[in-house]
Amino acid sequence: MFSFDHLVHGGDYNPDQWIKTPEVWDEDMRLMKLAHINSATISIFSWALLEPEEGVYNFEWLDTIMDKLHENGIGAILATPSGARPAWLAQKYPEVLRVEENGIRNEFGVRHNHCLTSPIYREKVQNINRMLAERYKNHPALKMWHISNEYSGACHCELCRQAFVEWLKTYYHNSLDELNDAWWSGFWSHQITDWNQLSSPKERGESHVSAMKLSWRRFVSDSHISFLENEIAPLREITPDIPITTNFMRTYDGINYQEMAKHIDVVSWDNYPYWAVGKDMDEAAEAAFNHDLYRSIKGGQPFFMMESTPSIVNWRPVNKIPHPGTHTLTSIQAVAHGSDSVQYFQWRKARGGHEKFHGAVVDHCGHENTRVFREVTKLGKDLEKLSGVVDGRTDSKVAVIFDWENMWAIKYYNGYNNQHRDYVKESVKWYDSFRKRGIPVDVISMDDDFSKYDLIVAPFLYSFKDDTEDKIESYVKNGGNFAGTYLLGVTDKNDRCHLGGFPAGKLKDVFGIWAEETDSLPENMHNKAEYNGKEYSVDFVCDIIHAQGAEILGKYSSDFYAGMPAVTKNSYKNGTAYYIAFRNDADFALDFCDELIKDIGITSDSNIVTEENVFIRKRGDYIFVMNFSGKDTTVQLDKEYFDVLNGKKTDGSVALPVYGYMVLK
Ligand code: GLA
Ligand code: ZN
Repeated sequence: MFSFDHLVHGGDYNPDQWIKTPEVWDEDMRLMKLAHINSATISIFSWALLEPEEGVYNFEWLDTIMDKLHENGIGAILATPSGARPAWLAQKYPEVLRVEENGIRNEFGVRHNHCLTSPIYREKVQNINRMLAERYKNHPALKMWHISNEYSGACHCELCRQAFVEWLKTYYHNSLDELNDAWWSGFWSHQITDWNQLSSPKERGESHVSAMKLSWRRFVSDSHISFLENEIAPLREITPDIPITTNFMRTYDGINYQEMAKHIDVVSWDNYPYWAVGKDMDEAAEAAFNHDLYRSIKGGQPFFMMESTPSIVNWRPVNKIPHPGTHTLTSIQAVAHGSDSVQYFQWRKARGGHEKFHGAVVDHCGHENTRVFREVTKLGKDLEKLSGVVDGRTDSKVAVIFDWENMWAIKYYNGYNNQHRDYVKESVKWYDSFRKRGIPVDVISMDDDFSKYDLIVAPFLYSFKDDTEDKIESYVKNGGNFAGTYLLGVTDKNDRCHLGGFPAGKLKDVFGIWAEETDSLPENMHNKAEYNGKEYSVDFVCDIIHAQGAEILGKYSSDFYAGMPAVTKNSYKNGTAYYIAFRNDADFALDFCDELIKDIGITSDSNIVTEENVFIRKRGDYIFVMNFSGKDTTVQLDKEYFDVLNGKKTDGSVALPVYGYMVLK
């Protein structure tokens, strides 16, 4: 299903905005070749030009662009235009427009402003997609389908309400009794007695039933997936060999990407770290986490970095220019972590419109004599030397569980520390502790296969699916090592608390503990815990647990629970279960990971020794060394390597300048 044998280098290209000046198109081709660009993502927002009136089509300009791209050796990632609709469509069929939570239908404008259920919108989308597929099915430039753009949001119209009710009927087996049980509706006398009493959650209506909000999340996510399925039906039929992607956004919580990924061939995501404002390391760690999330989401298959900026964005309160060199380093990081592409938003800056000050490869000056263009060109040349990386895999023995359903459940409960939940931050922290030791980590869901890992870390896995308790138990029983942190398995998939307390059910035996209470600490208040002779701050939340069989590795040393267990380890059948009862935002995770690594005998990806802020990642036969440390550094190599980008053998130690990278074989 994969049509590339090289690393893809390109990005969003909007020739439709320059239709009156086709000489710009020729200049684009010249500049693309100069910058070693081999791919262009086109027609993302071109519907109004492709179908200027209902049933009247204008593909000639796109024919020209497709031909030009092909003549210049540039592949086309062709988008379906559903992300933004023509004004005539909204005017004639207002039902295609989204209704907000307040019940008011939006007017025509912006983008992503459509009802997910509207049969008319679905039909119109399918129709234009069919036209595109028929027209370009044999065009040699067509390499991939880019479906819509960053699906997001929700619609609260009557059609969507009815679809939600139908969804609930399916999920709860046509039984209001089951729904009422699941939602614990006796609370505040909210029993539902007729399906038509149900509506979407909203501030002025039902907004306090977490299980209902979870249902709505699942429904909205499923609506996006069925919208996508509707879009791709004609493409699957007409161009069965062309792979399909849609671009994801970091850990956006509006769609369960772990589910949506099953419906596309190649996962892609848009990467916009905020560099040069004093938090480069956090940004680099989070980018690495997201890359590994999207690498893991289809079992290790390479993904695409569909967007990034070669310089600035325009949507932050302050849009600082990243330090020169950051762009190339960020791009190489994506490739190191499993991306088969480096793509930009955007190729050329628009002359007008909302994004005219967003970074691009080609600026308003219109020529190639810019710092950004030179950096992009240098990267393009490097990517050409790395074509052997394509389809390369990384073998991880450690996994961190990061699960969309759990993210939702954490968002919606009311209690404990309502100000600080930080599920993503917690997950990145544990992930990054292994990364700092050169250990590759898969980022998996509760549904993934646990058995291939030597160690699984589950930060803040508060809510379980039906089989999670059994999965963890049997993983540990069969020799796995599992580390859970505070509030493990408190609720089920309907956010109902597990009776008997937590960790859920038999996990009390697996971990050899039970949790009696959970304390929450305001921002300026920190308790203490001791582990391995070192004192750690207890931040925001901690469980007060009792060991019943577990070995106590660390204890609280302040508050009324001083002396009670804070870190435990339990042998259960053939495996081991660790419990970390508190949150710490400093170095506890790293210190604990060091112990786990030693205990379990987990080894690094390579024997290259560097400081923590130089990232190392092996992909296939290639080792990427990336200097995010913010300063010049020297890397000690354990043996002689071939420096792929410089085409020569290395010495035992190599100087790596600030923002520098090297790729070794
Ligand atoms: C998103 C969108 C693009 C563009 C960029 C700007 O990722 O997909 O169309 O708006 O943001 O950063
Ligand atoms: Zn709707």
